[in-house]
Amino acid sequence: MQIFNTVAELQNSLNALRNSGKTIGFVPTMGALHAGHISLVKKAKEENDYVLTSIFVNPTQFNNPDDLAKYPRIPAQDLPMLENAGCDFVFMPAVDEMYHGNTVSDRRNIQLGSLGEVLEAKHRPGHFDGVITIVRKLFEASGRSKAYFGLKDFQQLAVVRLLVKSENIPVEIIPCPIVREEDGLAMSSRNMRLTADQRKAATILSKALFEVKSHWESESIAELNARAEKIIATESAVRLEYFSIADRDTLLPLTEKKNAVICIAAYLGDIRLIDNILPE
Ligand code: PAF
Repeated sequence: MQIFNTVAELQNSLNALRNSGKTIGFVPTMGALHAGHISLVKKAKEENDYVLTSIFVNPTQFNNPDDLAKYPRIPAQDLPMLENAGCDFVFMPAVDEMYHGNTVSDRRNIQLGSLGEVLEAKHRPGHFDGVITIVRKLFEASGRSKAYFGLKDFQQLAVVRLLVKSENIPVEIIPCPIVREEDGLAMSSRNMRLTADQRKAATILSKALFEVKSHWESESIAELNARAEKIIATESAVRLEYFSIADRDTLLPLTEKKNAVICIAAYLGDIRLIDNILPE
């Protein structure tokens, strides 16, 4: 497995491969890898000649400086996991390599519509500006590829798809299923910051989603919302930020049960977790 720290080195190597007809699967990450990331690497390996993973904790997508400071950075654990999963190249740039001293989001002309207003966009102002900025830079650095994104960040996936479409970026976005712990908790790099008690309490998020899914046919949207809120309220360690039965494309709240995704965000202490499920 080869590690690159600069865009120029990365582009030289990948261009040479592409010129000889090889395909590249790209898995963008912020490190602190878990089985969810590894499932993306494995899928990318199945579908391409080579796999590139990036590890870059992107400062512009953190609306909370404390969250950025505490975000786990553990390359000594990440790199062997990638090697075992069959990753061929890792791109690990310094902040200056990506931002050249100017860590300001640069969303340019992307019109996000409701995706830029609701759920994550509403509660994490500027977050998607930072995501768009870095994903654009990473796609420019990595070039033509298939890029693998987990469905856990449902809204991010929708935003990235819009970016690629509106800018004609030669990258095919491949959505991949959420990977869960045995008790249902969606895998997340932030889970490793939970205390043992918080970790136990955190399962209430997926419990609420699964419960709502199992009552999907028999209850109204109002009843399902009330059901979820009641379930979450049983865990005093969990502070619900939003629960939303939303349209999969616009992420606006639904009034009819059609094309739905059920999304949740909640805090355990200062750790913010998100999850979602497709009810049908
Ligand atoms: O999902 C993530 O890990 C990040 O948001 C991404 C896509 C790597 C951009 O920094």
